[in-house]
Parts: sequence; C-alpha cells; structure tokens
Amino acid sequence: MDLEPAALELTRERTGDHSQLSTHQADLAEYEPPAADLILASASLPFVPPEHFGTLWTRLRAALNPQGLMAVHLFGDRDSWAHGDSAVGGMTFHQRAEAEALLEGLEILQLEEQEFDGSSGRGPKHWHRFSIIAGTHPRHSEPR
Ligand SMILES: C[S@@+](CC[C@H](N)C(=O)[O-])C[C@H]1O[C@@H](n2cnc3c(N)ncnc32)[C@H](O)[C@@H]1O
Repeated sequence: MDLEPAALELTRERTGDHSQLSTHQADLAEYEPPAADLILASASLPFVPPEHFGTLWTRLRAALNPQGLMAVHLFGDRDSWAHGDSAVGGMTFHQRAEAEALLEGLEILQLEEQEFDGSSGRGPKHWHRFSIIAGTHPRHSEPR
C-alpha cells in the first residue's frame, strides 16, 4: 500500500503484474490493515505525523497474526529531517527508548540502530534509523 498511485504503478511494473499482487492506495494515517503474517514497511511509517502514529502502530500490531513478523523502519531523533533547517514537517521520529517501548510484548529478532551520512530523494542528509524485525508470540510451537 502507498499514498502515491505512482508508487503502486512502479510496484506493478517491477513485479510484472503478478496475479497474486494486490495494491492499495491509502494514507497510512487512516489505514486499517488486514490480518497479516508479514508486515513490511520500509522507510514509510515515519512519514505519518505524530498525532496519527500511535493509532497506526496499534492497528499494525493488532493486524499481525500469531507467529507473524513485522519488518519496519522507524526514524531516530538525530535524523537531519527531525530538526533545524532541514526539518521535514509531518513526520514522526523516535528516541531509542521510545522505539523499544513500541516493541514491548513482541519478540525482537533485530533492533539495529543505524546512523550515517547519505543521500535521499531530497538530497544529502544524516540518516538515523532503527531497522526492526519483530514477531508475535508464540514464535515456536511446543514439541509434541
Ligand atoms: C522513502 S519511500 C520508501 C519506499 C519503499 N517502501 C522503499 O523502501 O523503497 C517512502 C514511501 O512512503 C510513501 N508514503 C509517504 N507518506 C505516506 C502516507 N501517509 N501513507 C502511505 N504512504 C506514504 C511514499 O509515497 C513513498 O512511496
């Protein structure tokens, strides 16, 4: 899913219009995700404003099936889009403790904090992000 029709069109082009692919245009701030075994959100959730982020996160967690996985990026508070002249409005940034709090009750398989200077669609920037893979319990069935 994506807000921009062009992003969905690009996805369809790249997958060759695979018959099992369905695309959905929506604003993440209002999105009601269907039940899912995997939620993959690469560099997209931080584009939701803080006043909508909590509801979005609650909905994503509720949508995750037992033994489901989420693989998501959150942006950190030292990202250059978070403050100063380079600030981008309407985005959500998290301190590490806040990111950890969002993952409470999930099994954390990866919580990698990354900081580097790099490029972006808006030009050079300092990236600060959390690359997260987390799963719902129970991840492993008990031996019979
Ligand atoms: C940095 S790009 C990442 C794209 C892709 N996930 C990837 O990893 O290459 C951010 C994407 O989030 C989408 N986006 C931004 N705000 C959004 C919103 N409120 N609801 C849904 N999608 C949004 C943009 O259209 C864009 O495709």
